[in-house]
Amino acid sequence: MRYLDFLERVHELLEPRTYLEIGVRHGDSLALARAPSIGVDPAYRLRVELRDDVTLFRETSDEFFARPDPLAPLGGLPVDLSFIDGMHLSEYALRDFVNVEKHSRWTTAVVFDDIFPTDATMAARNRETRRWTGDVFKILGFLREHRPDLVCLPLDTEPTGLLLVLGLDPTNDALNERYDDLFDQATAEDPQEVPDEVLRRKGALDPEAVLAGSFWGVLRDARAREVPRRRGMRALRRALRRDGLSGRSLRELLPLPA
Ligand SMILES: C[S@@+](CC[C@H](N)C(=O)[O-])C[C@H]1O[C@@H](n2cnc3c(N)ncnc32)[C@H](O)[C@@H]1O
Repeated sequence: MRYLDFLERVHELLEPRTYLEIGVRHGDSLALARAPSIGVDPAYRLRVELRDDVTLFRETSDEFFARPDPLAPLGGLPVDLSFIDGMHLSEYALRDFVNVEKHSRWTTAVVFDDIFPTDATMAARNRETRRWTGDVFKILGFLREHRPDLVCLPLDTEPTGLLLVLGLDPTNDALNERYDDLFDQATAEDPQEVPDEVLRRKGALDPEAVLAGSFWGVLRDARAREVPRRRGMRALRRALRRDGLSGRSLRELLPLPA
């Protein structure tokens, strides 16, 4: 399945009240939104028409999140769905996640693009290829090690995989506190050592199976009823077990670092 087809179905299933996209380029993924949305990109060049309730910021995501009230165009609501597809360097993707999570609820879904490079050249920090994932794959290791509380579902989509992250916790500061260490790992010089499991997409989930999950209804319902995270996470994990999607997370995809 192509990543845009997956995202389109997520908009239908989650029915987000708000959408935040980092990295807009031509607007192809932003055009899938069906709710008040924000798009952030210092160099977007639209080639599709966007809805009237989309607000674009021609700036970097760091500049955007440094605004006093970045989500003002969403009328005070948190982010319900976010797509992180901006600068393809892992420290940028990490900062984007940390910032998005601060503006989220536990019922928010975040999707990262480009977690599955096909080889080390595609994963180079200094871009050498037309199709470029950069080293965004390192996000898998960062979340696996430092945020075991999150539900992370790596997806076998084309062309370069997606990571669906659920069960956010805006009060959790672990990634921010460890940012300096993670920054050092993120900025290791080329060539990048891409784990074989990542190159083979080990444990990556069939996107159709994820789209068929009952957990989307749990998230929608919990958002509407403002169910607190602790109770809601139990219901979410139960639904994932029912859907056959639990235990197939990053543990399978990535060995723990020695
Ligand atoms: C792969 S494209 C996005 C494609 C789009 N999401 C889609 O699927 O149709 C990546 C975009 O990220 C933008 N970008 C680069 N650095 C960025 C940053 N620091 N903050 C936000 N966007 C950035 C680039 O200008 C580029 O347009």
